[in-house]
Amino acid sequence: MASLGFLSRFLPPFSGFILACVLAIGLQIFVFSPISPDLLHLPEPSYLPSFPTNTHLQGVGKLGEGIVKDPEDVLVDENGTLYTATRDGWIKRLHRDGSWENWTMLNSQALLGITVTRKGGIIVCDAEKGLTWVDEDGHPKVLLSRVNGSQLRFADDVIEASDGSLYFSVASTKFGFHNWYLDFLEAKPHGQLLKFDPSSLQTLIILEDLGFANGVALSRDEDFLIVCETWKFRCLKHWLKGDEAGKTEIFIDNLPGGPDNINLAPDGSFWIALLQVTSEGWEFVHSSKAAKHLIATTFPSMIKKVNGAYTKASVLHVGADGKIIQKLDDADGKVMSFVTSAFEFEGHLYLGSLNSNFIGKLPLI
Ligand SMILES: *[C@@H]1O[C@H](CO)[C@@H](O)[C@H](O)[C@H]1NC(C)=O
Ligand SMILES: *[C@@H]1O[C@H](CO)[C@@H](O)[C@H](O)[C@H]1NC(C)=O
Ligand SMILES: *[C@@H]1O[C@H](CO)[C@@H](O)[C@H](O)[C@H]1NC(C)=O
Repeated sequence: MASLGFLSRFLPPFSGFILACVLAIGLQIFVFSPISPDLLHLPEPSYLPSFPTNTHLQGVGKLGEGIVKDPEDVLVDENGTLYTATRDGWIKRLHRDGSWENWTMLNSQALLGITVTRKGGIIVCDAEKGLTWVDEDGHPKVLLSRVNGSQLRFADDVIEASDGSLYFSVASTKFGFHNWYLDFLEAKPHGQLLKFDPSSLQTLIILEDLGFANGVALSRDEDFLIVCETWKFRCLKHWLKGDEAGKTEIFIDNLPGGPDNINLAPDGSFWIALLQVTSEGWEFVHSSKAAKHLIATTFPSMIKKVNGAYTKASVLHVGADGKIIQKLDDADGKVMSFVTSAFEFEGHLYLGSLNSNFIGKLPLI
C-alpha cells in the first residue's frame, strides 16, 4: 500500500510528461510529415503461375563494367551505337567496335529517360533541368525547362513522334527524383503525360492524375502510345489515331511489379522493366497511414527496407495487344537488381539499372 501511495504521488506528473512526449512526437510525425498519404492497394498477381519466377537475367553479359554508374535508361540507335545516361551526369556511348566513349557531361545527378531524335543525337530527361537535346556533336541544349511558368521537374521518360512532337512523362509534380519513394508512400496521383511541340513551343497535358508516370512508348504505327503508372502496377494505352483517337484505356494491369521504362521492340511488341517496389514483410506499410508518416518523417532511412527494388530484377515482354509473352527475372538480385529499362536490338536485350555499374546484355533465343 505504501509503495502504491508513493507511486500515485508521482504518476500524474510522470504520465503528463509521457503524454507531452507522445504529443510532441505525434506533432512531429503528422504535422511536419512531408506526405499526406492514402492507402495503397497492392494487386494480387493473379496470372503469376503461368510465368514462374526464374533466373534468366542472371545470364547477362556485363557491358562497360565500372564505367557506367547506375545507367537508368539505355538505347541502341539504328547504326548500333549504344547510349546511356549515368548517375554522375554523363552521356556515355558504346560504339559497334566495342569502344566506350565518355561522350558528353551534363552536370546533373538526375538523368533519366533517353530517346533518339530525327534531328540527330538524343533527347534526355533531366529530372532537375527539363528536356535536353544533345546534338550529334555532343552539344547539349535545353529544349524545355518551364511549363506554365514553373520549372519542369521530374521529367522521367520521353519519346519522339515522326512529326517531331515529344511525348514525355512527369513522374510527380509534388516530389523530386531524389524523393521518389515519398510519392509511393503518399500514393496520391501526381503524375502527368505531356506533349511538347518544338516548332510551336506549346506544351499540352495529355493525361494527368497518374500514379507515378514513368515509361512512355509509341506503337510501331504511332496509332497509340503507352504510359506506365508505377505504383498503380499498370500501363495505359492512349489512342492517337483512328476512331478511338483521344481515348485512354488500360493496356495491361495487375502487373507483378511497378512498371518503369517501356520500349518498343522491332516486331511491334514491348519490353517493360518491373520494379519490386515492396519488400517481403514490409507490405503492411502501404496499408497504414501512421506507418507511412512515421517512415517519411522520422525514419527515412527505412525506405530502403520498405522498397524492394534492390532485391530483384524483372522484365516483361508484352505483345501490342497487352498480352504477356515472357517474363525474365533475376529472382534474388544476384547479378542485376533494380532493372529500370530493357531495349531490344538485333536479337539482344540491353538492360539499364539504378543499382549497377554496367549495362546487362542478354541474347534472346
Ligand atoms: C571515362 O570515364 C571513366 C570513369 O567514369 C574513366 O574510368 C575512363 O578512363 C574515362 N575514359 C576516357 C576515354 O576518358
Ligand atoms: C547512321 O549512319 C549513317 C551513315 O553513316 C548516317 O548517315 C546516319 O546519320 C547515322 N544515324 C545515326 C542515328 O547516327
Ligand atoms: C497551364 O495552365 C492552364 C490554366 O490553368 C491550364 O489550362 C493548362 O492545362 C496548363 N498547361 C500545362 C501544360 O500545365
